[in-house]
Amino acid sequence: MPTASFAQRRSQLEAYFDRTAVDAWARLTSDAPVNKIRETVRQGRDRMRAKLLSYLPHDLSGARLLDAGCGTGLLAVEAARRGASVTAVDLSPSLISLAAERRPEDVDPAKLDFQVGDMLETGEGRFDFVVAMDSLIHYTAGDMVVALGRLADRTDHSLVFTFAPRTPALTAMHTVGQLFPRGNRSPAIEPVGPGVLHRRIAGAQALSDWHIGRSERIVSGFYTSQAQELTRG
Ligand SMILES: C[S@@+](CC[C@H](N)C(=O)[O-])C[C@H]1O[C@@H](n2cnc3c(N)ncnc32)[C@H](O)[C@@H]1O
Repeated sequence: MPTASFAQRRSQLEAYFDRTAVDAWARLTSDAPVNKIRETVRQGRDRMRAKLLSYLPHDLSGARLLDAGCGTGLLAVEAARRGASVTAVDLSPSLISLAAERRPEDVDPAKLDFQVGDMLETGEGRFDFVVAMDSLIHYTAGDMVVALGRLADRTDHSLVFTFAPRTPALTAMHTVGQLFPRGNRSPAIEPVGPGVLHRRIAGAQALSDWHIGRSERIVSGFYTSQAQELTRG
């Protein structure tokens, strides 16, 4: 069972990403022109996706990968192209439909399964790798670490995810949601300093077999997010 605060935030995120933000996310994650501010976000997100993928083996043939909070599926598609069997899950049925519509023809549908649901409730299978790009940033550090523990339980090699690093400049601008008109804004993001997050991870019983690996911050105009790798063993 997720914590009450995780469940509450999850339902806000589901409403936001399935209704308020669908069109904006559809556009941001396409090749359609966007304004200059969102272009900086798009470029930052492209760099982040490449960074997270660079933490995984280049050849993912035979690997099982979970894209946890996949949105419109950009990262999932790249992982499948590299040979992984991908389960890509998101709370938003609208984003999952879009992801399925956008599935490119060069990707074997049997290797890329889009599912509506909670990343913590994706059945019984195990994964070699889990990637969570900008999908845990809206949860408190405590809930994020609990979620990582739950994901780690089913993961054999590594977890790569992003967090919103706590920096003075970020408070007002570090989610794309903050760029939308008032009333359309995303649920708050929950910035956390890398040191605080690392101490919480190191202290989490469910992550006691896991090591804190590479980490890198990506800053691109209105986008700031930090990649983090956790490895087992
Ligand atoms: C900022 S978007 C990022 C989407 C995608 N990872 C990307 O980078 O393009 C965050 C996504 O996480 C999803 N999400 C948040 N909490 C989730 C949960 N508990 N289970 C599944 N998806 C979740 C949201 O629905 C949303 O689509």
